[in-house]
Amino acid sequence: VEENFAPIGVFDSGVGGLTVLNALRHVLPEETLFYLGDTARVPYGNRSAETVCQYALQASRFLIEKDVKALVIACNTASAYALERLKEKYSIPVIGVIDSVAHRAAKISQTQEVAVLGTRGTIRSESYVKALQKEKASIKIHARACPLLVPLAEEGWSDKSVSEEIIYQYLKDLKNTDVDTLILGCTHYPLLKGLIQKVAEGLLGRSLFVLDSGPPAAEALKTLLRTKGLLVSQGSQAACPRGKTHIHVTDYPEGFEETAKRFFDAAGAVFTHVDL
Ligand code: DGL
Repeated sequence: VEENFAPIGVFDSGVGGLTVLNALRHVLPEETLFYLGDTARVPYGNRSAETVCQYALQASRFLIEKDVKALVIACNTASAYALERLKEKYSIPVIGVIDSVAHRAAKISQTQEVAVLGTRGTIRSESYVKALQKEKASIKIHARACPLLVPLAEEGWSDKSVSEEIIYQYLKDLKNTDVDTLILGCTHYPLLKGLIQKVAEGLLGRSLFVLDSGPPAAEALKTLLRTKGLLVSQGSQAACPRGKTHIHVTDYPEGFEETAKRFFDAAGAVFTHVDL
C-alpha cells in the first residue's frame, strides 16, 4: 500500500491527547488516525524524565508496528522529554506539541509576557522557556506547574467552584504582571479552558489569548506532511472522503468512553484494549 494511505500515529498518557486528536480530525479529515492512550500508566506528569522517555518509546514502538507514516506526541510531558529521542530513532516525521504553540504565542503576544501552565515534568524540563526564547530571546515567561488540573479535567469538573478556587491558587501571583497570552501546556487543560480564562482575566483585569496545543500542532503536521508529499490527498489513488479513527488504550477503565467523549467527538471511532 502506498505510504500516503498509511495512518498517522498519535499518543498520550491517557485521554488528554484526544484534544489533539480532535484538532487533527478537523484539520486532516481524510487521514486515518491511530491513537494510543497509555491509560494503564497515566499520569506521566509527575514521573522522572527516564520513565517518561521509556513509556514514550514503548508507545511509539506500538504505533510504528502499525506502519504509521508519522508520529504525533500528543502529550506535553512526553514531548518535553522524548521528542529528540524519537526523532533520532525513526525516519518518519515526528512532531511534539510544544514548538508550534510556542511559535504562535510569541507571534501574538503584544506585551511579550507569556504564562505557561503544565505538569510538573513539563515545567521542570523548561521546554517552553527554551521554545519561546528561541522565537524571541527577550520574551518573559511565567511558568506554573498545576498538577491538580489533570484529575479535575478527567472528572469533567469544568464548571465547579472548587476547580475555580484551585485555578485561582495556581494563577494568583500573575496579578501584577503584563501577561497577555496564556499557553495551556498540557493536553488535558483545554477542558478547563473557560474557567482558566475567566480566572486569569479576572486577576489581570483584561482579556487574554488562551492557546491550546492541538490546533497549532495539527497545522504544523499538515504542513510537514504536505512538504513530504505524504498527505492522503497527494496519493495516486482516489481517497475515501473521511479517514477512520482508531482509539487504543492500555487499560479500559469503567466509564472510559464517557470520559473520552469529553475530550473528543468520538462518533464513528473504534475503541480497542491493547497491551504494550
Ligand atoms: N496530557 C499530558 C500532558 O500533556 C499530561 C497528563 C499526565 O500527567 O499524564 O502533559
